Amino acid sequence: MGKNIVLVGFMGTGKSAVGRILARELDREFIDMDSVIEARAGKAISALFADEGEPAFRALERALVQELSAASDRVIATGGGVVLNPVNLTDFNRNSLVVCLLARPETIVERVARDTHRPLLEGDADKAAAIRELLAKRQSLYEAIPLRVVTDQRTARAVAQEVLALYLGETRMDK
Ligand code: S3P
Repeated sequence: MGKNIVLVGFMGTGKSAVGRILARELDREFIDMDSVIEARAGKAISALFADEGEPAFRALERALVQELSAASDRVIATGGGVVLNPVNLTDFNRNSLVVCLLARPETIVERVARDTHRPLLEGDADKAAAIRELLAKRQSLYEAIPLRVVTDQRTARAVAQEVLALYLGETRMDK
């Protein structure tokens, strides 16, 4: 049984795109946490935030982390806020290689500019300012993750190859 690969990082760092490629390469199941939460709640994340508030979303996210950290052999893309609760990372670290994807604010602005499904960036006339502010608040949490991959000006495929190399290096060391 192999460790999970868990991708964390701010919105727009490419967690889902990279995760999908990795899962295909490794012939593993891919789990996109936000999609699972949406399916279970029966509504989009933005509707969940609007109807029930962020704490309700965080509770569903926490429960899913607990469930997924008991599994193995999966590639898991988390939502950008999973790092806000340190216990989420403690749980994942037990049975997963946690890799943080990083990107500069300008890259993130470019990638999420046309999105309408990210509640934490909605309602802000100045999306770039909202991204900079939220990223500044969280930067230390992302930087604290030992394995980090910079994604600026790189394709999801190139980033996936780097994560794969980290994973294969790590699993070799475990033996
Ligand atoms: C969030 C990021 C989103 C989603 C929710 C909250 C965050 O996921 O989980 O809107 O707190 O950063 P993505 O990182 O996939 O956009």
